[in-house]
Amino acid sequence: MSSRKKIVAGNWKMNKSLQEAKILAEQITNQVNEFDEVTKIIIPPFPFLETVKQTISNKPNFYIGAQNCHTNSSGAFTGEVSANMLHSVGCEYVLIGHSERRQYFKEKDADFILKIKEALKNNIHPIFCIGETIHERKTDNHFKVITEQLTAVLKEFSVEEFSKFILAYEPVWAIGTGETATSAQAQEMHAFIRSIVTDIFDSSVAANVSILYGGSCNAQNAQELFRCPDVDGGLIGGASLKADDFCKIIFSF
Ligand code: PGA
Repeated sequence: MSSRKKIVAGNWKMNKSLQEAKILAEQITNQVNEFDEVTKIIIPPFPFLETVKQTISNKPNFYIGAQNCHTNSSGAFTGEVSANMLHSVGCEYVLIGHSERRQYFKEKDADFILKIKEALKNNIHPIFCIGETIHERKTDNHFKVITEQLTAVLKEFSVEEFSKFILAYEPVWAIGTGETATSAQAQEMHAFIRSIVTDIFDSSVAANVSILYGGSCNAQNAQELFRCPDVDGGLIGGASLKADDFCKIIFSF
């Protein structure tokens, strides 16, 4: 039996003011019943973490996550935020390897390894994101790319460390484009990711890791995606900015 949780994470990216962030977090928590068993992770911009944390503080199964952390614990790195700072504001998750970090900030496997080590050292669960571009899929390289992205990073961690991970499959061609992977494409890749985790660790490790789908997941398509046996939930961008849509996604299991 696997111990996988159902998870919905909302990546707000670089959106909202402090006032709007507070209202959105309140609207979400007000709609969700305290007995709802889905793990809900709100991932606002850094300056709103503490306010959102306060808003969710008495709500069961709500957590906050950060969108990034630095490779070092402290020091002269103007403009950066470390994992121990995130821990000190009550952050329990952090996104690592998001395609926007790969594309716009040129982050590489070596950065992800250091960032994940920092996160783990501070009791923060990494949500490690992987995904292929449209060119890589069209040239039939998607399985190869995913294998490389996973292997380069996972081989640096022990089974015990990996047990703290969440994985997120986010095809780059689906992020913010309105084009979603079909449930067949998502299931095929999630099962493949589990097979790679089996190769690196073993089958029980693979059976226990939660793998989220991300990329234009919304209130209309979440149910079909979440029905796939290897899809354990969603990493939601655009649709996490509207309380009604995000809550519908939470209720889609
Ligand atoms: P999207 O973003 O839902 O807006 O496509 C997903 C993500 O980038 O995590």
